[in-house]
Amino acid sequence: MKINVKKDKSENTKTEVLIIGHFEKEKFSHPALDKKLKGRISKAIKEKKFEGEFKQLHSVSSLGLIAPEKILLVGLGKKKEFDLEKLRKISGFTAKVVRDGKVTSFATTLTEEDVKGRNIEEKSLTIVEGILLGLYQFDRYKTEEKEKQPKVREVTLLTSDVKKSKTGVKKGEILANATNYVRDLVNMPACEATPTYIANEAKKIAKQHKIKIRIFGKKELEKKKMNAILGVSKGSSQEPKLVVLETNPKAKKKIALVGKGITFDSGGLDIKPESFMLDMKSDMAGAAAVLATVMVAAKLKILINVLGVMALTENMPGASAQKPGDIVTAYNKKTIEIANTDAEGRLVLADAVAYAEEQKPAAIIDLATLTGSCIVVLGYSGAVLVSNNDKLKNAIKKSADETFERVWELPLWDDFREAIKGEIADVRNLGKFPKGYEAGTITAATFIEAFIEKTPWAHLDIAGTAWYEQEKEYISKAATGYGVRLLIHFLENWK
Ligand code: BES
Ligand code: ZN
Ligand code: ZN
Repeated sequence: MKINVKKDKSENTKTEVLIIGHFEKEKFSHPALDKKLKGRISKAIKEKKFEGEFKQLHSVSSLGLIAPEKILLVGLGKKKEFDLEKLRKISGFTAKVVRDGKVTSFATTLTEEDVKGRNIEEKSLTIVEGILLGLYQFDRYKTEEKEKQPKVREVTLLTSDVKKSKTGVKKGEILANATNYVRDLVNMPACEATPTYIANEAKKIAKQHKIKIRIFGKKELEKKKMNAILGVSKGSSQEPKLVVLETNPKAKKKIALVGKGITFDSGGLDIKPESFMLDMKSDMAGAAAVLATVMVAAKLKILINVLGVMALTENMPGASAQKPGDIVTAYNKKTIEIANTDAEGRLVLADAVAYAEEQKPAAIIDLATLTGSCIVVLGYSGAVLVSNNDKLKNAIKKSADETFERVWELPLWDDFREAIKGEIADVRNLGKFPKGYEAGTITAATFIEAFIEKTPWAHLDIAGTAWYEQEKEYISKAATGYGVRLLIHFLENWK
């Protein structure tokens, strides 16, 4: 899709649909256009046919009196409550309304609406995010053209400052396209998006953007004694891969991002019931977000040595599968009792974070669709954050608030460290509480902590935010692409 930036007056803009925002109880902001339309807009407002309530729509035909063929008025709600997230939502929402009307090109003046404390660049970035994320569709497996949604080919942002707006547009495109790339990888069926497929995607991206890459297959993992990952992979016919990407190897600051990449989680021998298994192709959303973030860090030339580690394997109940009661020795030599084969994410992360720490980063952030309990705690509205370091967690919270990829912190208390102590080995992969699943999100995080010696670390459980059954304004049904915008904001602001 082509995104133009122009300084045209709204009434002179040649386009199929011109989207104009309107705040509740405020004066209409395009009086010249209204005048040319013989006051039809102010009349609709006066007659309370359109009052500017958030997401309210009102369409006005231009009858050849002005250049746009049609005006779509959209309510922005109360002026003092308007923020970037609302702008992102309105942009995604209106883009979809227009698309569903089979319009292939539209223009918008939303760029010029007031958002307290925000400049044209930030607003343009946000609008482009909203539009591109909102228009996302996963239709590559539909073979009949009529089953696919129509496509918008061209969007024009009208602005008073073309230069600043263009800078925002460019960055918005990079962030939204990377998020949509994560959505594609997560939406792809597990029969195609295997560990090998994702490792090959990483190879392609690394080549394109001159990113350093190492890929450890089964042989290398055996040589390195990464038995926690290998254990999870034992029941699968697919080869496990640990992919390590690195931007700016010479930069002073180094941050490690580690992603859970279970390309299908059947539960293993502790097999999941059917309704819980259905969407488990999405269990690699953490790894996909790490891959896309490293790519964007390279594209934006962020001056940090970003180390991306993806722990990729299936979790299957094949003949050689790992069994409940098995004990494995992880990369850092700690022994693990496998109390439940379905708590596999923390196992692959155990090896991956220990490897990441060896590379001496200033901080490690892991992303994982780790626990069903995470959805019990926060629903689909935010990721759970658990961390051993105040500076790191505060920086993540700030980026989460800024990007609206929200997080909420849960505590790391000694009770939970006690709960994951092993009976006959060092640690166990299930909390030793009466039922096993109490505080499931925290015990899972505490297990990962056991594989980090001293590096500041933060864990994001994205089980509820990576995948959603319903559509929202700019969030598509199924994979959401959560994490890239948050992590990029974090990397750009890390000191
Ligand atoms: N991949 C799942 C967690 C999950 C559940 C992600 C639902 C997204 C949606 C994870 O590997 C898992 O199975 N966790 C178990 C752990 C339990 C066995 C201790 C869970 O949360 O039920
Ligand atoms: Zn599992
Ligand atoms: Zn899992």
